[in-house]
Amino acid sequence: MTTPVTFEFLPTELDQVATHTGQVVCFVEASGKLDQSSRRVNRLSKGALERFAESEAFAEMSESQARELAYPAGMDATGVIVVKLARKPEAGDARKAGVSIGKLKNDSPLLVLAGNIGRAAEICEGIALRVYSYTEMKSEDPKETGNVILMASKPEEVAAAAAAPLAVAEGVFFTRDLTNAPANHLTTTNFAEQLAAMTSLGLEVEVLEEPQLEELGMRTLLSVGQGSSAPSKVVVMSWKGGGDEAPFALVGKGVVFDTGGLSLKPAGGMEDMTMDMGGAGVVSGVMRALALRKAKANVVGLVGLVENMPGPDATRPGDVVTSMKGDTVEIINTDAEGRLVLADVLWYAQERFKPVGMINLATLTGAIIIGLGHEMAGVFSNSDDLSDKFLKAAKDEDEGAWRMPLSPAYDKQLKSAVADMKNVGGRPAGSITAGQFLQRFVLDEMPWAHLDIAGVASVKSDTSYAPKGATGWGVRALNRMIADNYEG
Ligand code: BES
Ligand code: MN
Ligand code: ZN
Repeated sequence: MTTPVTFEFLPTELDQVATHTGQVVCFVEASGKLDQSSRRVNRLSKGALERFAESEAFAEMSESQARELAYPAGMDATGVIVVKLARKPEAGDARKAGVSIGKLKNDSPLLVLAGNIGRAAEICEGIALRVYSYTEMKSEDPKETGNVILMASKPEEVAAAAAAPLAVAEGVFFTRDLTNAPANHLTTTNFAEQLAAMTSLGLEVEVLEEPQLEELGMRTLLSVGQGSSAPSKVVVMSWKGGGDEAPFALVGKGVVFDTGGLSLKPAGGMEDMTMDMGGAGVVSGVMRALALRKAKANVVGLVGLVENMPGPDATRPGDVVTSMKGDTVEIINTDAEGRLVLADVLWYAQERFKPVGMINLATLTGAIIIGLGHEMAGVFSNSDDLSDKFLKAAKDEDEGAWRMPLSPAYDKQLKSAVADMKNVGGRPAGSITAGQFLQRFVLDEMPWAHLDIAGVASVKSDTSYAPKGATGWGVRALNRMIADNYEG
């Protein structure tokens, strides 16, 4: 898997500034005042830094922005990256500063002169998150991503503070790799194997195969995978870092490829449906992050892994299937398959684990992209308390999320003439009727939220924290929500 750039934390040794051959990073306050490290860079470069700090270009930069001065005289460096940042920045600004550095970073080693600037750990987090590229499918060996040397007056403190965010960044990378992977590589079997390998990190991982799913009565989930030769699976990952209390449950839609089934999607853009396992990818990334940072919480992650193909045994429009819960569903459109997968996994999660709360993630509807675009995920919840907790965490992590409504008023759109419900509610409020459908498989008293991430899981242009492609959206927010609310 793609691993984040490695960090080395060292005491400040300004004599190395002149001879560092990669890029050098220094921080300058909006006032233009130079700290000790910047003064060294300025002296070596014969006043270049001071001239830049006094320039209109610097004045026009916003906080956390960076700019590279190429091939400075008097230094061996290929460039000096100058970041505009307060001495004691807000956490979010420090993270953004890191992102700005990450964007400018080339393949050579990076020397970050952090001195005694506040929030250096968040700067590292930003760098780690942004320096990502998916090269698994390139035949050429990936280029070295030069490491990062961070010099600070208290390097051990920075190293300690950066440990957890860097573990989370590794979880984010796992999610991105999974979500970027093509469907002939990331089959249901390969996906399950990658999750099973996480036992080495201290997670318990259980893979439920088709015969067991059959026995459990997961007919809505199985109906999605039966047109594919890839076996359907449910993977259960448990992290037991807390006491004896019931776990929090995360549930993910893991459609490794969504052709639409017999309700076939048009050819244009169908290749994007390799990311239709994005929800399962986020759940997997969060579980990895929790294990890596040894979270003091009990969390169970469940993913439903299926492939939606129009093979000879595929579900027909009009078929009626019985869910594990016992409710019957008339499948009008085989392309509304994510809700069928989640229905059974949500029900199973509640029956088996009696969780204290449950959040599911899914690239569920194109309609949420019409509503919110690629900036925010839709949050549907039966609990103000849980959705407030999630929204706060998402805001703190700068991951876009917006509450959307649920209401029984929409239920009439799901009425079926032959079964308990149908799987589509027509065009109006397509994302809400999908949420209403899921809610039928959630116990009334269960605090639950559904995150529709169709617009944010993978995008066609760079975002703040990631190059184009899979973003890993949600890993950081969920990790923080757990850290802030479910750790003793
Ligand atoms: N996986 C899609 C939703 C999707 C669309 C994700 C675009 C990412 C980008 C989902 O399974 C789907 O096909 N939904 C249908 C539902 C409809 C048939 C009710 C949709 O949104 O068109
Ligand atoms: Mn679909
Ligand atoms: Zn889908």
